[in-house]
Amino acid sequence: MQKNKNIAVFASGGGSNLQAIIDGCKAGKIPAKVCAVISNNSKSGAMERARNAKIPAFHFSAKTHPTSDELAAAILHTLKNCETDIIFLAGYMKKIDPGILREYANRIFNIHPSLLPKFGGKGMYGINVHQAVIDAGETETGVTIHRVDPEYDTGEYVAQRTVPVLPGDTAETLAARVLEAEHQFLVEVICTLLI
Ligand code: GRF
Repeated sequence: MQKNKNIAVFASGGGSNLQAIIDGCKAGKIPAKVCAVISNNSKSGAMERARNAKIPAFHFSAKTHPTSDELAAAILHTLKNCETDIIFLAGYMKKIDPGILREYANRIFNIHPSLLPKFGGKGMYGINVHQAVIDAGETETGVTIHRVDPEYDTGEYVAQRTVPVLPGDTAETLAARVLEAEHQFLVEVICTLLI
């Protein structure tokens, strides 16, 4: 039988997408396991969710590794140690080191809460994205899963799903609807990325 693939998840925030991946693996919907969670934020919900699920959780930041070379080396060492097959960025707020991009070329993916190329790039994270969608008067938004390249939100798109913007939506109500869509969508899409 083929060995289950190993997914390393990078996350900085609450970690609800990480949780969806963990749950998807546990339920057998994703034929893989989360081999490591890497965060630049030691107090993040993502780190707590990893520890609760007994998944090795690593805090790597400028505090733990003052130079970018040391930081990248520590991350790379961890990824190799747990035999990472693919890397999934689930709300990770840092750029990925070029050496790691080379080592895992085409195997690093990010989820973004809009229909890229709309509402992506620097500063487009969290509630800012959804506020910009409302301000622009859009009637639909969505979720994009894309490969990661050296810039923010510019890598090749793998899959997109639309989410309606409803009359009376605030950035908060829209954010909640998009986040729920993300949780379902990423479980479906990750399965196709493991092949
Ligand atoms: C998600 O909206 C994701 O698309 C974006 O960051 C958010 C992370 O949310 N990249 P969570 O920490 O997984 O709850």
